[in-house]
Amino acid sequence: MLSLDTTNLEPDVSGDWIASQSEVAAAADRQLAARNGPGADFLGWLDPEALTTEHELDEILRIADALRACSNTLVVVGIGGSYLGARAVLEALGNDGPHDVVFAGQNLSARHHRDLLHGLAGREVAVNAISKSGTTTEPAVAFRLVRDYMEERYGAGAPSRIVATTDRVRGALRQVAEATGYRTLPIADDVGGRYSVLSAVGLLPIAYAGVDIRELRRGAIDCARMCETDELGHNPVRHYAVVRNLLSRQGIRIEALASFEPRLHYLLEWWKQLYGESEGKHGVGLYPSSVEYTADLHSMGQFFQEGRRILMETFLVIDADEPEVVVPAGDSRDELSYLEGRPMAEINEAAYRATATAHRAGGVPNLAIHLPRLDAYHLGALIYFFERACAVSGYLLGINPFDQPGVEAYKKEMFRLLGKPGFAATEPSSPKVVRRIAFSAR
Ligand code: PA5
Repeated sequence: MLSLDTTNLEPDVSGDWIASQSEVAAAADRQLAARNGPGADFLGWLDPEALTTEHELDEILRIADALRACSNTLVVVGIGGSYLGARAVLEALGNDGPHDVVFAGQNLSARHHRDLLHGLAGREVAVNAISKSGTTTEPAVAFRLVRDYMEERYGAGAPSRIVATTDRVRGALRQVAEATGYRTLPIADDVGGRYSVLSAVGLLPIAYAGVDIRELRRGAIDCARMCETDELGHNPVRHYAVVRNLLSRQGIRIEALASFEPRLHYLLEWWKQLYGESEGKHGVGLYPSSVEYTADLHSMGQFFQEGRRILMETFLVIDADEPEVVVPAGDSRDELSYLEGRPMAEINEAAYRATATAHRAGGVPNLAIHLPRLDAYHLGALIYFFERACAVSGYLLGINPFDQPGVEAYKKEMFRLLGKPGFAATEPSSPKVVRRIAFSAR
């Protein structure tokens, strides 16, 4: 299972100080389990066994098999919590089998969508449109483009290649799916987007790519069991939530999730969305950022070592890497003789240890979350760990970690600018004076 290394939190956060918060963390976690805290209507993810039952897993696998039989590329249309979890898992485990998953609907760039559709030529395509509300503009626009493409290419056969994952009854996507005859998978009322990766939202694209979704779920279930203990020293979720909370109280403003494994890029993106949307309200919350080492040691490393002291760092470390990749013997003029024959995994681990020590010395308290291996089981556990820690952390901050009211502000303004019915007459919320300065080369 996963483990935490808190050595480099000292002296900012001592072991005794963490231990003194045991009751506070337990109270927050118990409120979650009792389902009587803020946002208690959105706790469908809390029990991963109930979130997706064996029967639902079978149905997801049946649909994934049907799509795999008629296609080699699945276009997943969704934004935020409706796609990041699946993308995180697929990139982490290597989306390199015969069944490829590509993503659309995360931006409004015409160029991006034109390139995406061009890229589908020569592939056999299926589509999974995912939107809980069914009305989010970015995926809705992308789905129009993708549907058009599918209808032109497959004619009457298009609907059998399209699955909509959406609310059981509400929303435009539900209406379109029912009117057109797409297969559907439901998103439960009590599961918000960013907590939905272990439901049909994440599991259908993941199963399509051939990843063992039962293992993913098993890891989450085992992690949930591990979180049942009241002993803070054995409860990683409460431990992590407490550490973040104590550092925030000491003036830390930014948490950087740092990885030495490029495959975790989208896991970091998923984590940022989970923590950013859950905690960033009422003027509180740590700003979640990410760094990808060792590349970012050559860009952000300087700031971490010597910049403004408002940072904490959480390393995400995979303990087992590929041992057979070693530095080959070669021309000694590159000054690498001392590394010859040694596994790259050993060098990468040394880079992590050195970074943690140096950043600690530079005034950045840091901790590490260790995963024994990068596989479906441990990823499932990690996903659950972060979700539950985020919820406990939100309760420690005194906010509702399951809503996202602030996301509406840009939408209202965009709808007003585009003349969406009901919004065109509203007042702009931004300053009215336009200050745009054009520069030109003489
Ligand atoms: O976590 C969330 O709730 C959001 O990020 C949503 O997932 C995102 O806004 C997409 O919403 P929807 O699935 O309704 O299109």
